[in-house]
Amino acid sequence: MRLLHVAGARPNFMKVAALMHAGAARGIEQVLVHTGQHYDASMSDVFFADLELPRPDHHLGVGGGSHAEQTAKVMTCLEPLIARERPDWVVVVGDVNSTLAAALTAAKLNIKVAHVEAGLRSFDRTMPEEVNRVVVDGLSDLLFTPSADGDLNLLREGHPPEQIKMVGNVMIDALERSIEPARRRRVPARFGLEPRRYAVLTLHRPSNVDDPVVLGQLLKTILGTSGDLPVIFPVHPRTRARLEDAAAHGLGRLPERLRLVEPLGYLDFLGLVDGALAVLTDSGGLQEETTVLGIPCLTLRENTERPVTVTLGTNRLVGRDPVALARAFEDVFAGRWTRGTCPPRWDGHAGERVIDLLLEATAGAAETARREGAENTTGVATW
Ligand code: UD1
Repeated sequence: MRLLHVAGARPNFMKVAALMHAGAARGIEQVLVHTGQHYDASMSDVFFADLELPRPDHHLGVGGGSHAEQTAKVMTCLEPLIARERPDWVVVVGDVNSTLAAALTAAKLNIKVAHVEAGLRSFDRTMPEEVNRVVVDGLSDLLFTPSADGDLNLLREGHPPEQIKMVGNVMIDALERSIEPARRRRVPARFGLEPRRYAVLTLHRPSNVDDPVVLGQLLKTILGTSGDLPVIFPVHPRTRARLEDAAAHGLGRLPERLRLVEPLGYLDFLGLVDGALAVLTDSGGLQEETTVLGIPCLTLRENTERPVTVTLGTNRLVGRDPVALARAFEDVFAGRWTRGTCPPRWDGHAGERVIDLLLEATAGAAETARREGAENTTGVATW
């Protein structure tokens, strides 16, 4: 079996690492393509090092652009490459533009597509990722879901049950493998912070950061509700670009306890989150990581495509509502937050399940082809 993995943006790298480590342990032939959607060293290279990912076999260098430009650039570069590599499967992860582009390109070349992290739905089509999720699932031959809600969503959309496999969460494979090395880095101390005496903030969703007035108001709300807690804010490039505009729109001088830092690598960020009192975020992956680490997660969105983090984990949707945020911080400070439980199969072995199921499906397809060949010995086409 020959797999072609596609990674493009920061949240993809942990998932691809989990899959490639499981594939390598089984001696499978694997090709890694980096689309270059994320290209800064701090958004990409450091993740390859931290996650012990091999150097990509192909780097497409597509960079930024509008959604159509970015998607089209990946497709244009990937088409001849997939045609040349002829993998049994193109394996795509998550919901970013590179995921969509790769699934579409492979499907049109009649190469089988496996989607890891299938079935997640926020039911909010204003999110670019939701559009990507629906289309990628529609194009995929195997749908690997992280939780049972994913299976239900896919069944409701009419996907055949035999294509849906609940394997668990590959993101947690990466976490399990990295948490001890991350702890050994003593990241809070390096920032001069005491464990459980600070919060971590991340923001990058277009709905929160693209409008400078909305971004400024959100930061004011966070500062107004978090008491005197230091808030460490590793700033995504998209958000960095908007912060100056927000300052010009009346955000004013930020207090010192809101500490803007460069984006962190995987191990440093995990170490920082692991020591936090609470996390404020609009990221998807962080809702999952905080659930497994048992850390309160205040999600700055109205919805989530990861509902198990709310029902079983430590996640609460607070949106941008000052009242909800104030109440959440009161609960955090008073220690009134659920410790949560780990959702089924978020156990560090999801990647292995994916690879085993791909091996099974590939062997099944080869057997069918062999049997059909044996039945049709006349040499006359049977269609
Ligand atoms: C993308 C994903 C989002 C994911 C996020 C994680 C889509 C639609 N969105 O959003 O789902 O949660 O990644 O970070 O695919 N930039 C840099 N350096 C980089 C990367 C980006 O300067 O290394 C700039 C880009 O040029 C662009 C902006 O940041 O101006 C946004 O990058 P883009 O890839 O368009 O989307 P993200 O907001 O990062």
